Amino acid sequence: MSYQEVYEGWKSDPEGFWMQAAEAIDWDRQPSKALFDKGNDLYEWFADGLTNTCWNAVDRHVEAGRGGQVAIIHDSPITGTLHKITYSELRNRVARLAGALRAKGVGKGDRVIIYMPMVPEALEAMLACSRLGAIHSVVFGGFAANELAVRIDDAKPKAIIAASCGLEPGRVVHYKPLLDGAIELATHKPDFTVIFQREQEVAKLNDGYDFDWHGFQYGVEPADCVPVEGNHPAYILYTSGTTGAPKGVIRHTGGHLVALNWSMKNIYNVDPGDTFWAASDVGWVVGHSYICYAPLIHGNTTIVFEGKPVGTPDAGTFWRVISEHNVRSFFTAPTAFRAVKRDDPKGEYVEKYDISGLRAIYLAGERADPDTIEWAQKVTGKPIYDHWWQTETGWTIAGMPAGIEALSVKIGSPSVPMPGYDVQILDEAGHPMPAGELGAIAVKLPLPPGTLPTLWNAEDRFRKSYLSHFPGYYETGDAGMIDEDGYLYIMARTDDVINVAGHRLSTGGMEEVLASHPDVAECAVIGVTDQLKGQLPMGFVCLTTGVNRPHDEIVKECVKLVRDKIGPVAAFKLCAVVDRLPKTRSGKILRATMVKIADSEEFKLPATIDDPAILDEIKVALQALGYAKG
Ligand code: COA
Ligand code: AMP
Repeated sequence: MSYQEVYEGWKSDPEGFWMQAAEAIDWDRQPSKALFDKGNDLYEWFADGLTNTCWNAVDRHVEAGRGGQVAIIHDSPITGTLHKITYSELRNRVARLAGALRAKGVGKGDRVIIYMPMVPEALEAMLACSRLGAIHSVVFGGFAANELAVRIDDAKPKAIIAASCGLEPGRVVHYKPLLDGAIELATHKPDFTVIFQREQEVAKLNDGYDFDWHGFQYGVEPADCVPVEGNHPAYILYTSGTTGAPKGVIRHTGGHLVALNWSMKNIYNVDPGDTFWAASDVGWVVGHSYICYAPLIHGNTTIVFEGKPVGTPDAGTFWRVISEHNVRSFFTAPTAFRAVKRDDPKGEYVEKYDISGLRAIYLAGERADPDTIEWAQKVTGKPIYDHWWQTETGWTIAGMPAGIEALSVKIGSPSVPMPGYDVQILDEAGHPMPAGELGAIAVKLPLPPGTLPTLWNAEDRFRKSYLSHFPGYYETGDAGMIDEDGYLYIMARTDDVINVAGHRLSTGGMEEVLASHPDVAECAVIGVTDQLKGQLPMGFVCLTTGVNRPHDEIVKECVKLVRDKIGPVAAFKLCAVVDRLPKTRSGKILRATMVKIADSEEFKLPATIDDPAILDEIKVALQALGYAKG
């Protein structure tokens, strides 16, 4: 069947399409139907089925004779170690860990926060939660204690599973003090923690509260999989919104299993047994869907890579891993390729390795710039498929359906909508726009299985953020267009979210932190273009009257404050003190205009601007930071 036939097939019978896809999943009780309309624009998938995520990702493969196949390869150029875990071993390890958690009172519906680096134990912790029907929430290791505390207070976990440390090139990330600090800051106190001690740094455990990962598993009865309803939350993953309060995206069990399993063949074109690699982090949605769940649900071998695209030890790392583990499909972020390209523009490292087993490379997480795509195509000789999705959707909205039909690639476009997504471009009033015209990208409700049904404890925010602007649609927060051939183009965010090295960050969240500095009266954070990371945050602060301290001292404190409060991942290093911020007459800060000046782009002076002279002052500040030079 062609892509067109599959897409039309879904459109003419959406429920039949997903019921058929659901046959590839093991159910303890079959769902009676696919879609459950809860009214008021809320939908759930496979709600009355009973199933278990861990069973589908692990145990069933052992039962089916795949026990000896490698499930997880941990390849860590940072520690110089390689470790393989078969499906049988994985089942035993996860069942024991789940048994130990159960013995300490963790059960169905309890939340467990996981704060771990790129080690297989992070996946095992996720799977052990799924095994019990507990709801995990993984927090990225690059976030600071305060961000962890915010998530603890929102998710109210019974337990936290963490590692003693993470490893960044040249730096040990001390997880335990961050964890202790977060628990101290949080109002909600988890019952206990489990600490996976890494040999690179052993943490001090507090008796009776912190339990050693290995020790607490001693003598426990391994746990079996607990069947849960199709609409039982498998996990909560926090993502950046407009404000500093992150949004808790919920993933329901049934739809998650069905959609991810479908995506592995139809999008990533791998068969069970093949090795699949997503070079991301378990703390992001890509890590949830394509390091942990999808490859395992589909019976693939997945790679947990603890390293960077460059410097661990060189720009040949990706090609070494692909060659050594015979990776079939590879998924990374454009920023990673930009880093490799900078160190190895001619692709000399690629020639050192045999990557003939690789079929295609998939890019997502941020806009894939044509230069990077063309470079990757040239040096690897492989098709490069951009695809577009979000934490909220959990899997591809628009991409290349390579396992159905390899359509022609149009550079600059993540290709076409996947079955399940009726993507439309709308004008401000919600009317569909003609082909080729820019507008807000929206998806007609219902969203397909695997996408968010609502936000954790925040249905009103869910409606306000996604459903209220365009009734009957999910608002993606991205702007773009669809061409005559149905190819989608993603141009920009319509909100204050920025994308730094493929990491989604909230400028509003950073402004909240800057505003907490005692000398800052007012501030604005914008996202400026960066050759490597796509965007970088840049802050402008106006000082409280009477503050006479040296500006560079205050700037340093601001930079440190964001690093301490949000984390190193915010990559907040550009900041300037200015006298005033450009505003409209009604007092709205003209952030978009500031971005245009920084990036040396043409702009129209906003008609409502209060005092245009302020823009000159901003330009001077930008030039001092190395921007607005054009
Ligand atoms: N734990 C602790 N700190 C982390 C971290 C983690 N898991 N991940 C990143 N950080 C830190 C980095 O060490 C860096 O700290 P520094 O300011 O002390 O140097 C900071 O956060 C910023 O990180 P990043 O923006 O990732 O920059 P980098 O200089 O470390 O690396 C790239 C640059 C391009 C090589 C890197 O960004 C990269 O590989 N990105 C891939 C993007 C990706 O996989 N995105 C996931 C979405 S698909
Ligand atoms: P996240 O939730 O972290 O995955 O970030 C999702 C956002 O990243 C999207 O809403 C887009 O703004 C951006 N994004 C992700 N993939 C792409 C892509 N292929 N092209 C352009 N932007 C992308």
